[in-house]
Parts: sequence; C-alpha cells; structure tokens
Amino acid sequence: MRNCFLIVLLNWISFLLLHCAALEFITTPEQIKKNGYPAESHQVITEDGYFLTMHRIPSSPKFPTNKKKPVVFLQHWFGGSSADWVFFGPEKSLGYLLADAGYDVWLGNNRGNTYSSNHTTYSITSHKYWDFSFHEMGVYDLPVVIDYILNKTREPNLYYVGISMGTTMFFIFASERPEYNRKIRLMIALAPMVFVDKSTSSIFAGPVNTLTSILRITDVYGIRRGKANEILSNYVCTDRALRTNCVDILFSVVGYDPKQLNESILQKFLTYFPEAISVKCLLHYFQLYTTGGFHQYDYGEKVNMVKYNQRLPPQYNLKAVTSKVVLVYATNDRLSKVQNVQQLNKVLPNPVEMYQVPHPSFNHVDYIIGKDVKTLLNDNIINMIKKY
Ligand SMILES: *[C@@H]1O[C@H](CO)[C@@H](O)[C@H](O)[C@H]1NC(C)=O
Ligand SMILES: *[C@@H]1O[C@H](CO)[C@@H](O)[C@H](O)[C@H]1NC(C)=O
Ligand SMILES: *[C@@H]1O[C@H](CO)[C@@H](O)[C@H](O)[C@H]1NC(C)=O
Repeated sequence: MRNCFLIVLLNWISFLLLHCAALEFITTPEQIKKNGYPAESHQVITEDGYFLTMHRIPSSPKFPTNKKKPVVFLQHWFGGSSADWVFFGPEKSLGYLLADAGYDVWLGNNRGNTYSSNHTTYSITSHKYWDFSFHEMGVYDLPVVIDYILNKTREPNLYYVGISMGTTMFFIFASERPEYNRKIRLMIALAPMVFVDKSTSSIFAGPVNTLTSILRITDVYGIRRGKANEILSNYVCTDRALRTNCVDILFSVVGYDPKQLNESILQKFLTYFPEAISVKCLLHYFQLYTTGGFHQYDYGEKVNMVKYNQRLPPQYNLKAVTSKVVLVYATNDRLSKVQNVQQLNKVLPNPVEMYQVPHPSFNHVDYIIGKDVKTLLNDNIINMIKKY
C-alpha cells in the first residue's frame, strides 16, 4: 500500500489531490483492536454475486456485560468504508461511543470497497463489476446485510444510522423492499441525500452534462482505492500553498468551515478516503440533481422502455418508507440542503424529528471529521437512539 495520499473530491472534471500524508493504512478491525475493543468480520453474498464484509464491535471495555444488546448498524457514504466510524479514535468516533453506551455495533462496507471487492463471477477490473449505483446497494445489499445481522444477533430489529449516500441507499431499500421497515427500529439520516436539486456544492455547479459525457467517453466505470491512489499521485501537492488550495476546493464541495477542520485529522482521514468510486453512482446523483426527483437510473428513453416499460425512470415510492426517521441536517452543508431535507420530511409517512446540528458552519464532512463531532453530533445521536 502506498503511503502517499490522496484526493479532494471530484471538482467536476478533475480529481485533485489534497496532500501527501505519510500515514499508514490500517484496516478497520486492526484499528478497533488497537484501541482495546474487540472486532469481528462477517461476510455475506448478495443475490447479484457481490461478497460484502461487515465489521462489528460487539462490546466495549467500558461496558462489560453478557446480556443481549440492541444493534446499531452504521452505513458509510460515497467513497467511504467502515473506517469512517472508527478512524477518529474512541474519544470521538461514533462506532466506539455506541459500543461504550452498550450497543452491539455493526459497520457496513459497500460493494467495491477494500473489504467488499470480491464477486462470484466478475473481475473487479471489468465493466460489469462496476455497473451499479446506490440503487443496487439499496435493493440487493441492505436486505442481505440486515437479515444476516438480525439472524446472528437474534434481534427483531435494529437502529440504522446512515450518512449521505448511506441515507440514499436506505430510502431506496425501504421503498423498494417495504417489508423490511418492520426490521428498522429507527432510521437516523445524517446529511440526507434524497432530493438534491437545491445543492450548492461545486460538484454539481459545473456543467453536469459535460462531466457526464466526459465520464462516458473516458470509459472509466469504477476506481478502486489503490487505483485512485495511482492516478492521483500525479497531482501530489506537498507545499503549503497548494495544500490551502486543495482545502478550498474541499470546502467548495462540502461547505466552508475552517473552525471544525483540523488539518492533521483531515490528513489521517485521507488515508481512508476515497475508497471505491462507482461512476454510475455519481451519474445517478447528477440525474437527481438535474430532475429534482428521487428516481431510478435514467438510461435514456429506449433502454428505459426495455427496463422499466416507461420512457422515464420510475420514482421511488417514499410513501412506503414506514420506518421512524430522524433527519439530521446542518445549515452550511452544501450537498444536503435544508430545503431538500424539509421536502423529504414532508413526503415521509413517519418522520419523528428534524435535528439541526447546533453549529452554524457545520458542513458535510464535519459529520465524520469535525473537531467537535462528539459534542455537536455523536452524543445527540446516542440520545436519539435512547429516546426512540
Ligand atoms: C477475495 O477473494 C480472495 C481469493 O478468494 C481472497 O484471498 C480475499 O481475501 C478476498 N477478499 C475479501 C475482501 O473478501
Ligand atoms: C440463521 O443462522 C443460522 C445459524 O446461526 C443458520 O443455520 C440459518 O440458515 C440462518 N438463517 C438465515 C435466514 O440466514
Ligand atoms: C488536531 O489534531 C491533532 C491530532 O489529534 C491534535 O494533536 C491537535 O491538538 C489538534 N489541533 C487542534 C487545533 O485541535
């Protein structure tokens, strides 16, 4: 594994490197164990052939008990992995804080990432392998993962906490597989990404159509962690000025919040981000941004007719999402905008709370790497879990 790392997001045409971090990549179970917690890995296979690995923190040295515990499942975002919930350490990361509070913590890993990269028949270098968006994660991955966890723990239901794309997948899952709603005790949606047309992120600000064409022409369907690293090492920026520029680009994508940014934490975070990137996920978001709807992937009229038997892609039926939902949002988040979260709140049948993170400049990445993420967010997540 190369030490030198990595990116700022995709500022419409290019990937830009953030900086060169001489930090070692440590797997999620190793990180958990290093911090004195037990860690487990579990594997499932999806209906369409992907091997997915879940990580688990079954208990905490601060909460020793043999009793059965309620289960919390944490689902990462685009380009993420289970590492997102533990890399900040036991003082701040939600994975540990939940274990300390007496929960059985399970961490998802999306198809394509370091821990979920195998497939029964497709090679990870083939187009077929990468032909998925968050639609497939919702329809195929979450059902098998949740069934596995509930069977293993003998629990009737679980708490689902998802961030960003982890919420997109959930709302697809709960609308396309409505029979699963009874298995969700509560959904806590952090920075919900369902309706995204009000986004002011620079990722959507450019000519989305041009970017879409470029992605198609370049014939890149998916980028793995190591591969992304390779491509991006050409853009290594080590000097201070460039680093500042890179941070500016990051802020243009997620919202400006220097108060919550600790550069050494960001550097550490970039050892784990980005994980796998499926271009189809991005294109699907671009479509949602353009149409303002929440619908399946648009293949164009001809293919849509074959796949969906209609010219336009079908809208997901959010009315079928009967789970209790808490929507957590921040006023300065450029990707998950307040108006869009309010719109979602109006459509859902069973929203129980809208929670605004009490920090005016809180942005999309602060949910994971914000300096005060424990007091501003994570403690409150645990309170919500206790409350509902
Ligand atoms: C993928 O499969 C290979 C070969 O069977 C195995 O060595 C590797 O551990 C698997 N990786 C994961 C993440 O399951
Ligand atoms: C549940 O787990 C048991 C073993 O723990 C296994 O035999 C059974 O097949 C599982 N059921 C499902 C539906 O996964
Ligand atoms: C940033 O994080 C590092 C590593 O955790 C810590 O030592 C340092 O005190 C932090 N700096 C600020 C300004 O919070």
